[in-house]
Amino acid sequence: MTTVLVTGGAGMLGRQLLPRLAQAGYATRGMSRRERPEGLPPGVEWASADIENGAGLAQALSGVEVIVHAASSARERSWQIDVEGTRRLIEQAAAQGVKHIVYISIVGIERIPTPYYKNKVAAEEAITVGGVPWTILRATQFHDLLDRYITGYLRRPISLAPVSYRYQPVDAGEVAAALCDCVAQGPRGRAPDMGGPEVKTIGQLIPPWLAARGMRRLVIPRPVRGDVARAFQSGYNTCPANRQGRVTWEEWLTRPSAQS
Ligand SMILES: NC(=O)c1ccc[n+]([C@@H]2O[C@H](COP(=O)([O-])OP(=O)(O)OC[C@H]3O[C@@H](n4cnc5c(N)ncnc54)[C@H](OP(=O)(O)O)[C@@H]3O)[C@@H](O)[C@H]2O)c1
Repeated sequence: MTTVLVTGGAGMLGRQLLPRLAQAGYATRGMSRRERPEGLPPGVEWASADIENGAGLAQALSGVEVIVHAASSARERSWQIDVEGTRRLIEQAAAQGVKHIVYISIVGIERIPTPYYKNKVAAEEAITVGGVPWTILRATQFHDLLDRYITGYLRRPISLAPVSYRYQPVDAGEVAAALCDCVAQGPRGRAPDMGGPEVKTIGQLIPPWLAARGMRRLVIPRPVRGDVARAFQSGYNTCPANRQGRVTWEEWLTRPSAQS
């Protein structure tokens, strides 16, 4: 039985991926810095390890043939974790003969100059030159992330939001399913970008979000400028020709898990 290690197994995506891999018949091991999270299916193994300093990594990689690399840190120490941590992971993986690494990345990163996206570009580069056969799947932003953004924008009765930014929200579970397919198919380089079923502005995402929560807000367009703002307004983070995801924003908002 093939053993698959999921780095970032406790994250938004990792939690969706672990049960799917186990269900598909892989010996599945999740990994992150914390102890085993509650709610993992009993058959899923857990390893505590830190890609930033390598602690626990050798044990986490023991017997592993395939890695799905989803450990990441968008907010803090991104260079150390996303770039140096990815290099450390791939070096150890290559040394022990891992057969395939699947890396989850983000649509449009080379055209959107945020520090985190620059680090994702560098991490992709580390994957491609690291000596382990690879697949990179880039996805658009998950519904959960946009939910967090909008929650942050709309804290007050009168709120500012970057209403002209465009997104193509995709279901994290559907991305997890696509990653399972990547594991099954074997190394294939860059996979086609994956997006959700519709491209919408923040201004269009907000009214159904408010309706789903029974909330009212006066939303004022937040003034935005600069290269990053232009990139999100232009939708460089979207892939309208690729709408593999089926779950719409409105459908996702009706889920019990989206109501908290
Ligand atoms: N969210 C989106 O909309 C989206 C869209 C497209 C692509 N992606 C990509 O998908 C991947 C996963 O995203 P996500 O939203 O699931 O992220 P997330 O919820 O923030 O999860 C990140 C995971 O990485 C682990 N981690 C962080 N630093 C670590 C370290 N030093 N060593 C080991 N594990 C570490 C965290 O667990 P601990 O804190 O327990 O270590 C957590 O399990 C990222 O690469 C992201 O760029 C995300």
